[in-house]
Amino acid sequence: MRVLIYHNDAEQWRNILLERLPDAEIQVAAGSGNPQVDYLVAWKPPASVFDEQTALKGIVNLGAGVDALLQNPSLPRGIPIVKLRDAGMGELIGDYARYGVLHFQRDFDRYRRQQANSEWREVAVVDKPDWPVGVLGLGAIGTRVAQMLAADGYPIHGWSRSPKQLEGITCHHGDHGLDTLLRQVKTLITLLPDTPATRHIIDRGNLAKLPAGASLINPGRGTLIDEPALLDALGEAESEGRLRGALLDAFPSEPLAADSPLWRHPRILITPHMAGPTPIGAAADQVADALDAMSKGKAVETVDPDAGY
Ligand code: GLV
Repeated sequence: MRVLIYHNDAEQWRNILLERLPDAEIQVAAGSGNPQVDYLVAWKPPASVFDEQTALKGIVNLGAGVDALLQNPSLPRGIPIVKLRDAGMGELIGDYARYGVLHFQRDFDRYRRQQANSEWREVAVVDKPDWPVGVLGLGAIGTRVAQMLAADGYPIHGWSRSPKQLEGITCHHGDHGLDTLLRQVKTLITLLPDTPATRHIIDRGNLAKLPAGASLINPGRGTLIDEPALLDALGEAESEGRLRGALLDAFPSEPLAADSPLWRHPRILITPHMAGPTPIGAAADQVADALDAMSKGKAVETVDPDAGY
């Protein structure tokens, strides 16, 4: 099997995949003049990579989100696409979500503001059972995050487009389910894929449904959030808006522009898309398994390009 890798750390990926697939011919993509291969293993490849390859039998996306790949103007149609499923990212994003939930539930945001004024004042704790958390998106990662927070003792509401049943999670679905979830959660965590159906799902109308003083954590995709609506909901530094604060890891355009008002907003915490770095060992196992299965004509779980995930 002939494989081409397109990634910032392509050499590292080549070595780790060769350990698992010693008989494969694995090449690192150069700017142009790449040989024809059977499979492309890539993260955000440019259109030119697809323009050159005329005989691809499968694509492995080196990430959980396939939005960038599906938006590639030269992506060939009808070829199976496999993506990473959790691969250890769920636990990392679960820890990120835990940090964010604790930040608001244990009032670290308030203590930061108090410290700026040398103010020594203890705030009464709202206990975990009284702090419902909503997780939008119950794919592999959203499910893991929901389960980790449920194990910590928070009542967890999960939402997906189609009905799901998960032990220990109150599952909602569809438009009505989203409404029900939004009206009762103190922290909302967005882990939906970026698709035409999810773009700006957190808009003015949906932000207004959250209880006053709710908080938002977005380790998913920046396009899920209508940014002007978020800024309006947060209000100013001193007068708390409807929304108490936001922890944001993903933005519609990355890196976040230096002049973005989000950087300087006192109620926003920003991290540089670090919530779920791909653990290379677990990911390489999935990639090697997918390549092996596809090359042997065995069934693999593929992406549905129409659904966008
Ligand atoms: C990262 O954002 C990914 O989709 O894996």
